[in-house]
Formats: sequence, structure tokens, C-alpha cells
Amino acid sequence: MILSVSDFIQQDDWKTEKHVPVIEAPDEVSAGDRVTVKVSIGKEIPHPNTVEHHIVWAKVIFMAEGATFPVEVADYQFAAHESSDNRTTVQVFPSVAAELEFASSGMLVAVSYCNIHGFWESHHRLKVV
Ligand SMILES: [Fe+2]
Repeated sequence: MILSVSDFIQQDDWKTEKHVPVIEAPDEVSAGDRVTVKVSIGKEIPHPNTVEHHIVWAKVIFMAEGATFPVEVADYQFAAHESSDNRTTVQVFPSVAAELEFASSGMLVAVSYCNIHGFWESHHRLKVV
């Protein structure tokens, strides 16, 4: 049996599952407008951020309508937990933002990786008007 990445990427409601990346972006934008796309993990229920258990990375991908291939538009590595003293002096949250300009409508996909609980994804449809 051959496994596909889609076989082990998990989805759920970010309000009840702390691993799901939350995409905050406008639903509609004008072509050429620069917009902020925020991605955070643990927005409602904070995810641990310790050396033993943490979000390792998150990526943002855009699949334009009618395109053949997706485009990776952001890639974040969360290594700061290693200097955060395991939350005794400072808490670090995996929350980042990208500024993007869209020429066509499509789907934003965020994927995150927890070193214990694996891969998680979410989607946000964006329409260029
Ligand atoms: Fe986790």
C-alpha cells in the first residue's frame, strides 16, 4: 500500500482543536492590492511551545483557480521555543503574517506540523473582484 500526504494531514475545527492553523485573510480583494494574511496555531486553545512539544513549522500555499500547480507563498520555522526557557520567562506563540498581492481568485491552504501530533491543514477561499 502506498500512502499519500493527504492520508495523514488532519483537519478539524480550530475552535476546539489546538493544532489547526487559523488563516485570517479577507474573503474578497482587489487585484494588485497588498493584503495581510495571518496564520496562527492555537488561537483559541494555545498549543504547548516547549522543547518537548511544539509547532515546528507552518507553510502557506496558494492554489489559483484554473492553475495546474499550487504555489508556496510563505514558510515559517518556529525554533524560538528552544530559547524560551520552557515558558518560565517568556511564552512564544506560533503566529505569523505575510503580505501578498493576488492577481486571481483561489484557495489559501495553511499546513502546520507539531513534533508529536503531526500535520494539520486549513483552507480559506479568496476572491479577486
Ligand atoms: Fe501538539
